[in-house]
Amino acid sequence: MSADIQVMEVMTIMGIKVSPLERIDSDVLTTLRELMNASLKHAFITDHMLERCTTGDPNFRRKDILVAYENDELVGVLIGGIRRSAPPDMVSEHRSVGWVKAVAVRPGPHRAEILGSLLREFEGLMKEEDKNRLRACDFASWHFFPGIEVHHDFYIEELMRHGFSKVSECVDYEVDLLRFYIPQRIKRLEERLMKEGLSFKRASRGDEGRVAEWVKRKFSSFWAYEAKLSFSFKKPKIWVVEKDGRILGFSVYGALEPNWFGPIGVDPEARARGIGSVLLFKCLQDMRLEGTRIAVIPWTSHLFFYTQVPAISAVKHYWIMEKKL
Ligand SMILES: CC(C)(COP(=O)(O)OP(=O)(O)OC[C@H]1O[C@@H](n2cnc3c(N)ncnc32)[C@H](O)[C@@H]1OP(=O)(O)O)[C@@H](O)C(=O)NCCC(=O)NCCS
Repeated sequence: MSADIQVMEVMTIMGIKVSPLERIDSDVLTTLRELMNASLKHAFITDHMLERCTTGDPNFRRKDILVAYENDELVGVLIGGIRRSAPPDMVSEHRSVGWVKAVAVRPGPHRAEILGSLLREFEGLMKEEDKNRLRACDFASWHFFPGIEVHHDFYIEELMRHGFSKVSECVDYEVDLLRFYIPQRIKRLEERLMKEGLSFKRASRGDEGRVAEWVKRKFSSFWAYEAKLSFSFKKPKIWVVEKDGRILGFSVYGALEPNWFGPIGVDPEARARGIGSVLLFKCLQDMRLEGTRIAVIPWTSHLFFYTQVPAISAVKHYWIMEKKL
């Protein structure tokens, strides 16, 4: 008897059943949100986030969501994804990758078995589709979190037991805007840059095409998508810095999630002059003025660029994990 058959029998005995989600509507999403928040201690998943990462993702397929039932009670979910259509220029590069965007299993005696059966089922689906790698959870622009939060010990251990290993890492900074202020140093920096002929301005709607094209050319189509989203607000949530009509940098907030800062980017030729710091403070100040209490600076490895922000109240550390199939 093979190990797989033994496992399946164990599953049947325990009354665990894993299957693709049968339908998706707002009631189902509410149920999934509650399950995820009850099962992922360090995650705070809102309706907006869940929708963005499922039906709001142009790559979405219902069959990439697997649910686990134990004795007819919903106990686990795995939200997967593949790059099918967006951004179009990344589809070919990502054709052999499948993503576990999030996996959540209620605490209980059979938690490890349930997680294992969700992973095995998803892995089977991905193999059928000729994927040769699984990633957790860095599905840019339609991600919940960039990786597995290091204090989610259970998930890290189980993913490792199922053949995943850490391939990269990053952090989220959380900033409590109650204690936020703009240091004099930043104000002086801005004055100096303005004297040098640079202008910092919140972009207006007419700038969208030009700015998005620049962001795509200098950085990536993910960031261009996020920059475009920032123009969908009446008052675009994006700052641009220019000199002599040439864009030198940009920074965005509130695009993917209302309280997320970023992306931010400065032309490589203009870096290390303080431009990025001024852009960063412009956005955080706007977030404060919009009434945001906790701003999140997600998915970064620029540790020292962001520690200059006063009022960092938490750091979340993530492992980005991968399994070769
Ligand atoms: C990150 C980025 C936007 C910074 O822009 P910048 O104009 O070079 O920023 P600044 O000149 O204000 O700061 C540059 C450096 O000075 C450092 N610095 C800022 N204030 C400082 C201070 N008071 N004392 C000492 N160092 C300071 C920063 O730590 C930063 O170091 P780092 O590049 O090693 O992180 C730019 O490097 C970039 O576009 N990178 C590529 C895109 C990217 O990674 N974006 C961030 C994604 S999370």
